[in-house]
This record gives sequence, C-alpha cells and structure tokens, in this order.
Amino acid sequence: MMTEEERNRISQAAELIKAGDVVAFPTETVYGLGANAFDPEAVTKIFQTKERPHFDPLIVHIADLKQLEEVTSGLDVRVKSLASEFWPGPLTIVLPKNDRIPDIVTSGLETVGVRMPRHEVALRLIREAGVPIAAPSANKFGMLSPTQSKHVLQKLPGVKMVLEGGESQIGLESTIIRLNPKGFEILRPGFFSKEDIEKVIPYFSEGVQAGHPEAPGMLDSHYSPRVPLYITGTEPEALDPMNTAYIAFQKPPSVQYLSSVVLSPKADMAEYAMKMFAALHDMDESGAEAIIIEAVPEEALGIAIMDRLRKASHS
Ligand code: TXA
Ligand code: MG
Repeated sequence: MMTEEERNRISQAAELIKAGDVVAFPTETVYGLGANAFDPEAVTKIFQTKERPHFDPLIVHIADLKQLEEVTSGLDVRVKSLASEFWPGPLTIVLPKNDRIPDIVTSGLETVGVRMPRHEVALRLIREAGVPIAAPSANKFGMLSPTQSKHVLQKLPGVKMVLEGGESQIGLESTIIRLNPKGFEILRPGFFSKEDIEKVIPYFSEGVQAGHPEAPGMLDSHYSPRVPLYITGTEPEALDPMNTAYIAFQKPPSVQYLSSVVLSPKADMAEYAMKMFAALHDMDESGAEAIIIEAVPEEALGIAIMDRLRKASHS
C-alpha cells in the first residue's frame, strides 16, 4: 500500500508531466525518464537529458486500453489477446502510430512502441497525468540501465523529480515485439521469451536486423559501465585480480578479487536479471579497473541476459 506522502509525490510528478516537464519514475523493468507523449517540446527534454541521438525512438507507456487507441491507429485483434496475457507487464508492442504521436517520439517512423507497465507507481502516474508517457530508461545514452532510484539521482542529477519505487523487480528492459501478417518477431529479448509469446500468437520472422531502419536503437554497444567489462572466458590474461571486480552467478570465485559478489546462490536466472545492473553500477564505482561477469546458459531469460551482457561488454 502507498502512504499519503507517496501519493502526494506522484500527484506532484503528474503536475510536472502536464506542465511539459520530465520526471523519472519506477517501472518493474528499469526506471524510466518520462514526458507527455503528445508534447514534442517535453519529449525533446528527454533526449537532451539523456544525450540520446534522435534516431532512437521512445516507448510510450499507457495505463489502460483506452489510451492504446489514443496512441495507435487501427486495432489489431491480436493486440487484445497479447494485452490480456502480458499487460500490465514487461512487453512492448510496436504498432502503427496515431497522428497524435509526434515524430520526435518515434524518430519519424510510422510505428510506435507501446507498453503498459506493471509497477503501481508508474500506473498511478500515467493515470493522474491523464496522458500517455513517453519514456526511455533513465540513464545517459549507452550507459548502464537504472534499477534503483539512486542510480538515476547519481547519473542524471539534473532531473527535477525522481519518484521512489524500490528496486525494479525484473531488472531488464521489456521484450519488444513487432507484429507482421503471419505472426510476431522479437526486436529486443526481455523477460517474456519467444516461447511465452508463442502461446498467444505464432512466431514468424521477417528477418529484422540490427542497424536496419525497422530496428533503430538496436545498437551493438549499449548498457555499458565506464570501466571495461568482460564476460568470463573473454578477459585478458594480464588482468590483475586485485584491480578487478568479479560478478558471479551462483558460487563465489576461487581466486581473490578486489571485490566480488554472487548474484544468485540458488542459481535463479530471474534473480540474476534483477540484480545484474545494480551489481554493475556498484562494481563500476568500486575503484576496480575492470569487471568480469559470469555468463548464464543461453535459454529462456538467459537469452535476454546474455544480449545485455554482450552489448555492455562490446569493445
Ligand atoms: O522496459 C522498458 O522497455 C524500459 C522501461 C522504462 O519501460 N524502457 C526502455 O526504453 O528500455 P529504451 O528507450 O531504453 O529502449 C527503447 C527501444 C529503442 O531503443 C528502440 O530500439 C525500440 O525501443 N523502439 C521504440 N520504438 C520503436 C519502433 N517504433 N520501432 C522499432 N523499435 C522501437
Ligand atoms: Mg535504454
């Protein structure tokens, strides 16, 4: 349950959104940096705050299906099935956009990515603001995603307001899918796997590739700490353990490092995902000159985790 003070903070944040300002807010995936999706000047402030290039479109967050009609054009019945199964939750669906959505939100594309988040603070904020909220993750472009309010406060100190919502329970950005006449394809892996979504509509790939106009923002390099990050097995031999931080999956490392942390003693990938970005933030601040992180099996949620780790460690 929310306290009265928390509700008041959300009301203040909603007023800022209505006034054309930018506010950071929690979601179950990562913290977002939000603005009124109908207001191009407000959305411009998101790009400025994040130093994000304009070719990278934003996800629009809604609180109910009525808002879906305000941001998209023409309702595909398949979206209703997907919504009843996965919303509110960590699924973004790329759909034909409504004329009310300005070009800056979609980087000029005719489509818009839409998601109904599950976090009660996010839902309440959208409802009180009365408009859909365009929001990328609340980090500097290309850097680690924020899963705690302090990550936003530290890395984006200029943001007027950061709503508190605890630690993001999923810890990885939403799965992004696009529909085509025969089914769906995945533009970004996330908490919901291909198999989860296949229970609702068939998978059919038209072959989306990173770097193509239909998959803007799917850059090879992303989510990076400031110091070099190596997935186990790729670290240079010359790395000195006493200047290196180590992030383990299940068991502590056998060698002594400057610092180390175990993400999930019970070897649970959902726990790994939830704690991964916070561990990377901590190790990035620890004074280590490099970070080593253990790979996970590339199945189910492990696909999304390894996608993020490869991009974070791309050199
Ligand atoms: O979980 C999440 O999705 C979080 C929270 C805040 O909701 N948001 C998030 O946003 O991860 P961001 O901006 O970091 O990533 C959004 C990505 C873009 O980089 C782009 O690749 C893709 O979504 N995207 C957005 N609109 C698109 C469109 N119309 N077509 C294709 N890709 C799109
Ligand atoms: Mg991001």
